[in-house]
Amino acid sequence: MYVSDCIGVNDKGHLTIGGCDTVELARRFGTPVYVYDEMEIRRNCQEFVRSIEDNYAGNGMVLYASKAFCCKEICRICAQENMGLDVVSGGELYTALSVDFPVEKIYFHGNNKTADELEQAVEHNVGRIVVDNIFELEMLERIAGDAGKTAEILFRIKPGIDAHTHSFVKTGQIDSKFGFALETGEAMAAVKKALEMKHIRLVGVHCHIGSQIFDIDPFELAARVMLDFMAQVKKETGLELDILNLGGGFGIKYLQTDRPRPFSDYMKKVSAVVKEYSAELGLKIPYIIIEPGRSIVGAAGLTLYTVGAVKKIPDVRTYVSVDGGMGDNPRYVLYQSKYEVLCANKANEPRECTATIAGKCCESGDLIQEWTSVQRVEPGDILAVLATGAYNYSMASNYNRICRPPVVMVKDGEARIVVERETYADMTRKDI
Ligand code: LLP
Repeated sequence: MYVSDCIGVNDKGHLTIGGCDTVELARRFGTPVYVYDEMEIRRNCQEFVRSIEDNYAGNGMVLYASKAFCCKEICRICAQENMGLDVVSGGELYTALSVDFPVEKIYFHGNNKTADELEQAVEHNVGRIVVDNIFELEMLERIAGDAGKTAEILFRIKPGIDAHTHSFVKTGQIDSKFGFALETGEAMAAVKKALEMKHIRLVGVHCHIGSQIFDIDPFELAARVMLDFMAQVKKETGLELDILNLGGGFGIKYLQTDRPRPFSDYMKKVSAVVKEYSAELGLKIPYIIIEPGRSIVGAAGLTLYTVGAVKKIPDVRTYVSVDGGMGDNPRYVLYQSKYEVLCANKANEPRECTATIAGKCCESGDLIQEWTSVQRVEPGDILAVLATGAYNYSMASNYNRICRPPVVMVKDGEARIVVERETYADMTRKDI
């Protein structure tokens, strides 16, 4: 009935998540508040991990793309679920290290890692660094050399697949800030250069074709393009690469009308293609890596707000203002992302109103959703925006010096804070 299995309605007619009454959560922790169902996150991790065991004889690893939602607790959960971690900054890496995340399972991404970040990665023996460009490759060779170490790397490749059109296309497009191009020979030149370096060991290749993708075909095509490149590397240099990292991007259900495939379908199809095609190309079957972010945490989270002013503008529209906004959910402003909105304390009532949910920032565009169906709401009601678990907390800001909300984790009817609400003192701490 809802976009996620962890959401329901109790006998008071209140929305629940992970067995907790959201109206009580709002009362206890205040609003706005991000709430995550821990078991839903764990189930998602397990489904991905199992899909590699079932379809690929366990010859691979699932990395959680921590950019989707990064805090200490999610790192602890992913470690317990035998996942690796994709980090893209010194900050994400620091968070993972601070909970003793197994370093050998950390992959460091990013198109412009700084020297400090690379030094941090080398110092802590981060599993693998996904090198994006020649400037970075040369810098890493120096840094690893100075530390007396050898850095294991993957190259980020642009497979030239645009999965964001209705019918995806292989564009061969090289206009991207990420990675090495295939068609210009840039990627092959980088491989040859890496092979001459003393402190670099190239072990694989990586690509990421986009996000919120429902179709499996573009992933399959990406796998083929990457294997072709691996075969070409073998032919030209004799090097047989061990690792094929196909990135993340699996679509989730934001609206009732969204129809994502079960995550395991992806591995079923892609692993069959990788096995067959590598045999055809005379390659050994590579160790496979996938990097889901959104699909681990997106539908496991929701945001609760308290309704303030309700402004009905006759013949125009109704604005329902809440105590958060683009600071805690920038995705509508940035991408016009769709969400389901519900009145948590009237969850059984019909959603018979059409409203625009507005934030409290001093900016007309600060909207969370426009022309959405919601129950008849009034000041003091609790609004729930569903499936906000990915890229909201992680992209939140302090615009207008509004404090960022806390993160509450629920499990079996129990709730606990995993990130505290920011205070005004927190925000002014670095002001001189
Ligand atoms: N791996 C790499 C190298 C990536 O760049 C990304 C996402 C992922 C994995 C995880 O993708 P996912 O499974 O979460 O789709 N801020 C945007 C999403 C940006 C995604 C960037 N890269 C949003 O709010 O929709």
